[in-house]
Amino acid sequence: MKKLLVLLVWFAVSPAPTFAADADGRQLVEMPPEARAEMRAEMLDFQMALHSIVTALGEKKFAEAAAIAEKMIGVSAMGRHRNAPPNARPGMFMSNDMHAIARGMHVAGSEFAKVAKTGNTTKALVALQAVTGACVACHRSYRTQ
Ligand code: HEC
Repeated sequence: MKKLLVLLVWFAVSPAPTFAADADGRQLVEMPPEARAEMRAEMLDFQMALHSIVTALGEKKFAEAAAIAEKMIGVSAMGRHRNAPPNARPGMFMSNDMHAIARGMHVAGSEFAKVAKTGNTTKALVALQAVTGACVACHRSYRTQ
């Protein structure tokens, strides 16, 4: 009975969902528009990099796949927003957990580069999965709107 009451009170005080994102389980991360714009630009570069990496792997251009991964996604790609004003630095608005996923993605990008250089497609794909896994993990855990 007490549980039911708690549930009823919860329903009474919860705002009605206005669109689907309100009802999904992702955590809302609030960022100023400037930080979001920076993040979107970076994300589009990640997506393009991933596309180019898969293309290079398909053509067995392992050195090229490795170079793109390191430069665009790997540890070398960290700190892109370092000189931006604070309101345009997405990292300032991330929780530790979200930040950890981002760092993990950069590390996985560098690890992929190392593995790709050995010229083994299967091992390279396994290593690339750690990169795409980070994309998925962050997108499925967090939202900005
Ligand atoms: C640490 C979290 C995080 C990681 C890791 C991450 N993303 Fe994102 N991504 C976001 C957030 C947050 C947005 C929404 C940004 C906004 O519009 O406010 C986003 C948006 C995007 C978008 C949409 C951009 C647009 O124009 O609206 C693409 C494409 C994307 N991410 C690709 C990727 C790819 C590919 C990877 C992996 C290589 C990746 N992301 C890794 C958090 C992340």
